[in-house]
Amino acid sequence: MLSTCWLFCLHSAVQLKPSGLGSETVWIIGDGHVRNAAQRAAVTKGCHLSLPNTVIRWFGRASLRWEGLVPFFNESLRGRAVPDILLINCGGNDLGVLKSVKMVNVMREDLLQLHQLHPRMKIIFSALPQRRQYSGKLEKARKFVNSVMRTLMEQVQGAAVDHPNIRYDNQELFMKDGAHFSLKGYDIFIDNLTNCLKTAAVGVNNNKLTT
Ligand SMILES: *[C@@H]1O[C@H](CO)[C@@H](O)[C@H](O)[C@H]1NC(C)=O
Ligand SMILES: *[C@@H]1O[C@H](CO)[C@@H](O)[C@H](O)[C@H]1NC(C)=O
Repeated sequence: MLSTCWLFCLHSAVQLKPSGLGSETVWIIGDGHVRNAAQRAAVTKGCHLSLPNTVIRWFGRASLRWEGLVPFFNESLRGRAVPDILLINCGGNDLGVLKSVKMVNVMREDLLQLHQLHPRMKIIFSALPQRRQYSGKLEKARKFVNSVMRTLMEQVQGAAVDHPNIRYDNQELFMKDGAHFSLKGYDIFIDNLTNCLKTAAVGVNNNKLTT
């Protein structure tokens, strides 16, 4: 069952807060975690994560792979202004499917292109979190992708947000399917995004970002 509130978060045509002068637009875009986090945020902190002067739009698509991200962004941009901040949570579905070296090359190219096309839009990369099913090989790939992305984010004056508290051995943070988080898991995930956006919003105002 889709809740109205959730749909509101995902597809709001009307904004809860007027996006007047001084208010910042944030898009949180990516895979199923974004959808689920939008649903959870709708009943906890609210769609705008209780951040002052911030209008947040959520663009989440279940099972989104990295290759679908830029087309999804382009599609979302139709008829809308480029956001001040683009927070990306995508790539988790590619981990273990694509070789990590290939993966970071594609990700780097796409992010550099996004940055070149929209230099004033701050890009934030949400680090790939651990999964419930742990394997040394996947963990190595995950860490590699995250570390390359962190460096890249510095180069494009963006930021990266980590999810160190979402650990595979803390099973109450995951659903049985292993791919999705539990409500408790999403609360941590959302807190981490919120903390990062607080810093990033200050960064946009000062025209610089701290990571
Ligand atoms: C997305 O839009 C940009 C700018 O219009 C364009 O250069 C790029 O090729 C598009 N990418 C995809 C995958 O649609
Ligand atoms: C993520 O959220 C958890 C739970 O609120 C918090 O303990 C942790 O410090 C946060 N981490 C980051 C990097 O924001």
